[in-house]
Formats: sequence, C-alpha cells, structure tokens
Amino acid sequence: MAEFQLPKNSRITKGKNFPAPGGATNTKTFRVYRWNPDDDNNPSIDTYEIDLDSCGPMVLDAMIKIKNEIDATLTFRRSCREGICGSCAMNIDGINTLACIQPITEIKGAVKIYPLPHLPVVKDLVPDMDHFYAQYAAIRPWIRTQSAAPSDSERLQSKEDRAKLDGSYECILCACCSTACPSYWWNSERYLGPAILLQAHRWLVDSRDEATGERLDELDDPFKLYRCHTIMNCTSTCPKGLNPAKAIAEIKIMLINRRGI
Ligand code: SF4
Ligand code: SF4
Ligand code: FES
Repeated sequence: MAEFQLPKNSRITKGKNFPAPGGATNTKTFRVYRWNPDDDNNPSIDTYEIDLDSCGPMVLDAMIKIKNEIDATLTFRRSCREGICGSCAMNIDGINTLACIQPITEIKGAVKIYPLPHLPVVKDLVPDMDHFYAQYAAIRPWIRTQSAAPSDSERLQSKEDRAKLDGSYECILCACCSTACPSYWWNSERYLGPAILLQAHRWLVDSRDEATGERLDELDDPFKLYRCHTIMNCTSTCPKGLNPAKAIAEIKIMLINRRGI
C-alpha cells in the first residue's frame, strides 16, 4: 500500500510549554503553530496556559496577551480587532475565521490555532498573501466606464441598484473562504477562488460599471471560474456571513444568459 508522509522538514514537532501563572483558577490551553524561517527547526506547536480571569473574551485577546506577557516572539497579523480589516484570519479549532470575533468560550477544550491552510507561511500565523492580492488586482476591482462622467454630480445609483451590492460590499478580503476551498487548494495558480469571484460579481452587478461584457470575457475560462464545484466550504466558513458560492453561481448564470443557452 502506498504510504504518504510529509517531508521530514515539515513534520510538526512538540514545542515549548508555558504554564499558567501560580494561583490562576480559570485557565484555558492554547496550542499554537510556530515556524521561524530564520532557523532550521521544523514547525512546532507551543502550548500556553492562559488565565482567562485576566484576559479579554476573544481568541485575539489571548494571542495579544501571549505576545505582551508571555512570549514576544509569537507572530500574527491584526489591526482593527473588530472584524473589519480581515488581517487576523487564521484557522481556529479547525475553522478559518477571524481571531478578533471568535469568543474563547465557544471553543470546547484546548484552542488550536494554525495559519490559514494551503498558503505559504511567512512566519508563525502569518501567511503569504501576495498571490491572493495579485488575483484581486487581476479582476481590476474598480469602476470601468466609457461614458463621460456627469459634470455636476457623481455617478449616482438608485436605491434598488445600490441594494444589488448587498452581500458583496461587506467582504473584507480575509481569504477565509478561498483557503477553505478544496478547488482553490489544488488549482490556486489558475482558479480565482471564492473571495476574488465574489469581488468580480460585485463589479458585474454594479449599475455604474460599463465593462460587464469585458469582465465576463475575462472570467469565461475553464480554470478562473469553472473550477468551482459548489462544495460550499466557502459559504460555511465566511466570518462575515456572506455567500461566495451564490455569487459564483450567479456569474455562471450571467455567462449562460449571454450565450442565450
Ligand atoms: S467572502 Fe467572507 S470569507 Fe471570503 S474573503 Fe470575503 S469576508 Fe472573507
Ligand atoms: S462552492 Fe466553489 S468556491 Fe466555494 S468552496 Fe466550493 S468549490 Fe470552492
Ligand atoms: S483584527 Fe481586523 S478583522 Fe480581526
């Protein structure tokens, strides 16, 4: 029988253990993925026992506590701490989500924290997002127009047209969905993935945009769009409650309608 194993240098080893402070009675265990490109060590899982009585309620609060009080070398991204910037996306307890809006108390047992899956790791919980952002830039995410702009106002929308952007404009490009998508894992070089396709849909339905045909031409590709097999991981994991799978299905319908099938 074939046996598959990770290469020796990527097998995860047991890391350091940081016990709870003496006297702590309300503790929680955090097991956190660590990898440092500056040494030759394999990735490891460090264990931190956190006193919840002196910690904020979210997983990000515990991580900031670890960094400030226990282990300053722990590396992760964060900025807004309220689910707006998307930078604290990581895999927590097996689910891609935002650490800043994930309550610690919702997790049974130890809190297991890994970087977003299937992206190269820069360090610890920081994934390399360059390719993801390059794919975003490739859809040219801005209004493309041919007509002259009104001289006395902005390009306006009716309330109904504005409402068509609901469900798309809220996307914070955290990449939780794309990195939960098996099709994106295997084909990310050519498949745009749910986050970028949701954004592509956002510009397709914008009444002010005048490049719908061009945008559809660019998406009508066996890999960029049609690698989506409606597995729905994207929609189940989105921490903002959005539905990228539906947006992808709507793009496919737009292409079918255009062909008059
Ligand atoms: S659709 Fe949701 S999970 Fe995907 S990038 Fe946008 S906010 Fe993140
Ligand atoms: S529905 Fe499509 S984009 Fe979403 S996880 Fe499945 S294959 Fe990926
Ligand atoms: S810190 Fe901005 S989304 Fe979590």
